[in-house]
Amino acid sequence: MGTDPLQELEQIADDAATAIRQAASLKGLEEQRVAWLGRKSRLNELMKHIPSLPADQRGAFGKRMNEVKASVESALSSRRDTLAASPARAPLDVTLPGSAIPQGRLHPITQTIQSILALFVPMGFEIVEGPELEFEYYNFDALNIPKDHPSREGFDTFFIDRPSPDPTRGRLLLRSHTSPVQIRVMEQRQPPLRIVVPGKVYRPDPLDPSHSFMFHQVEGLMVDGRTSFADLKGVLDRFLKALFGPDTKTRFRPHFFPFTEPSAEVDIACASCRGSGCSTCGRKGWLEIMGCGMVHPNVLKAVRYDPQRVQGFAFGMGVERIAMLKHHIADIRLFFENDLRFLEQF
Ligand code: PHE
Repeated sequence: MGTDPLQELEQIADDAATAIRQAASLKGLEEQRVAWLGRKSRLNELMKHIPSLPADQRGAFGKRMNEVKASVESALSSRRDTLAASPARAPLDVTLPGSAIPQGRLHPITQTIQSILALFVPMGFEIVEGPELEFEYYNFDALNIPKDHPSREGFDTFFIDRPSPDPTRGRLLLRSHTSPVQIRVMEQRQPPLRIVVPGKVYRPDPLDPSHSFMFHQVEGLMVDGRTSFADLKGVLDRFLKALFGPDTKTRFRPHFFPFTEPSAEVDIACASCRGSGCSTCGRKGWLEIMGCGMVHPNVLKAVRYDPQRVQGFAFGMGVERIAMLKHHIADIRLFFENDLRFLEQF
């Protein structure tokens, strides 16, 4: 032992205090305990030198030695308390349930559109989209809705207040239905043709529980040399049974649309009252679900198809209405308010 034993003792006291304060875990602290108080510790080594000290110094040295040991012990125990109380340092308890990672989801309208499309794709329909900013020609004229004709009033429309980039196609507007995409596709392609068209449409309706100035439609169109009204009924009946359940009853009720002839509205038997009449269906027993019909010869002529050689059917449905019926939602505005308490239910 080169240095003075008393000086060495004080050095050990200092080193131990620093090392113990820095122990970062209970395991690390246990290593410190062994290092400073164990059999091979510097204190234990130093103890062996007591007999070689001058007799008058032994008592004081031994006393100081005990004090240092006691202070190391108390430093260990206070550090142990600190580490045990700190949650960040607490050992991982693998039996506790994990904390859930919040997960995003698709908007209920997107989900409804996807499930509608997924039912038509296996029947051979191709998904197509078209512009929301549309020309008067596609939204009305080519669909056999002539200017000044009263049927145009059935489709209240937002017109765009600026000069049309192509006056031969009329004014610009926000499309009031997805039917103009029928025209755009037929202009570009020849039959046979089967398409479904999802998208946003706009009508200047005041907001109320069943109206919104923006909503979604899915349009369908099938054209070839022989497609009949029976095919239309078959496709839509199959679609509605797949969407609302195999026991769903459907009915086709005569109606008028300028772009189809004959035209029909499709109803499903009210699921709440099974046809006997309740508040959901307004005591009618039936819920109106979509419009449809055989493509009008004037529409075929507008895209230079020969009505003598090709024919087809078209249909259109409101997505919000279908989602509301499927999920028993009473107010269309819930879809657009983005309240997470509503959206997280889907
Ligand atoms: N476009 C019609 C509407 O918005 C729906 C429809 C589409 C009807 C195709 C018949 C055929 O009301």
